[in-house]
Amino acid sequence: MKKKVVGAAIVVFWLFFVALTKFNPNSYTTRPYILEYDSTAMEKPFIPADNPLTIEGVELGRLLFYDSILSVNNTQSCGSCHKQSLGFTDGRKLSIGARGDTLERNAMALVNLAWNKYYFWDGRQKSLESLVFEPILEPKEMGETEDRLLKKLNTHPYYPTLFSKAFGSPKITRTNVEKAIAQFLRTIVSSGIHLPPEVLNNPPENMSETDYYYKNVKDTTLRGLYFRFANMCGACHISEVYNDHEILATNLIDSNATLFKVPSLLNISNTAPYMHDGRFKTLPEVFEHYDDHIADLHLFQNSRLKQPLNNMFVKDYDKSHIEEFFKFFKDDNILRNPEWSNPFSNKNFSWQTLVLKKH
Ligand code: HEC
Ligand code: HEC
Repeated sequence: MKKKVVGAAIVVFWLFFVALTKFNPNSYTTRPYILEYDSTAMEKPFIPADNPLTIEGVELGRLLFYDSILSVNNTQSCGSCHKQSLGFTDGRKLSIGARGDTLERNAMALVNLAWNKYYFWDGRQKSLESLVFEPILEPKEMGETEDRLLKKLNTHPYYPTLFSKAFGSPKITRTNVEKAIAQFLRTIVSSGIHLPPEVLNNPPENMSETDYYYKNVKDTTLRGLYFRFANMCGACHISEVYNDHEILATNLIDSNATLFKVPSLLNISNTAPYMHDGRFKTLPEVFEHYDDHIADLHLFQNSRLKQPLNNMFVKDYDKSHIEEFFKFFKDDNILRNPEWSNPFSNKNFSWQTLVLKKH
């Protein structure tokens, strides 16, 4: 008799528990993901109120980012064109889609995106959530349809469980796919660039930075290069840490005014080829272009510039010096941090045991 009562009590308790978790949409719990960044160098990031970062959301976003299930023929993931070791670019002049079509643009580096206001080379997207489906649906890119993708995900062995954990429902929707991937993208943050003291030395007290810079134009030390960079390039590539918030009327080829986003120069030695159309294979080619071909364009009428952009960079320096200087823009953490790496390339991959190391 006693046994039966205990048994019944267990069943009742179990039913109550099932009802609670099944029918109460708020019964799932997520853990907040704390975005770490160098607050001395960076402002507060922008994170939309309806998509806060959670450990469950970021982990799920990472899986989706690296899963080729997102493409029409299951051959291409976001990570195929945004490779961590290449600063999240693909090393190609122009990207190639899942069916082999050549795109019109060079793959962009993905870093500090939570600090940007516009996305893509022409700045046409204004939020990370809204851009996610563009590469997926674009016929020449991943070429998938929304219906087919949601069907693949909803019948997948583990995605419904992971979406439940992150968003409280196993029913996978476009909005939640967008949210998860956007969360992951926001976590790719630089860990701060540390310029050595000989580069950062302050000008003498009685001299302004600009005077100091002009007096040092012929100075071929790294410090001279740094001041030159800060004065000439920093107008647009505002800091070493993150790129400009705005897009500028900048066309580096001819005088027809096309708007382009100013790309981040972090890990610039790893993200060749350069420019929106991948026209330059090496950094010296970019600088030669800045030196010799920009002078006649409308470009340097841009009010942010302190002086014309001609003869600004390359001529006084030897190339190895410039390359040495740009090594300061390297952020190894971005290239190697396992939290942003491809989880499927880990031999011991198991979706049940995904754990973000720092949490
Ligand atoms: C076929 C290669 C390819 C694939 C696959 C791809 N991308 Fe891209 N990505 C690009 C190219 C090329 C651009 C620049 C596009 C443009 O400006 O029109 C870009 C730009 C971006 C940007 C803008 C970065 C910035 O600074 O403005 C983000 C974010 C991005 N991709 C995320 C993704 C995500 C998420 C996926 C998967 C859903 C993805 N990409 C799939 C090639 C690719
Ligand atoms: C007026 C704004 C402006 C100034 C000043 C400027 N840039 Fe740029 N830079 C841009 C824009 C916009 C692009 C992208 C252009 C494109 O793709 O056609 C770019 C692209 C680049 C790239 C290629 C990045 C990539 O990922 O493909 C490098 C490298 C670069 N700039 C370095 C410099 C250096 C060094 C200086 C100073 C000598 C400088 N820039 C000055 C706006 C500027």
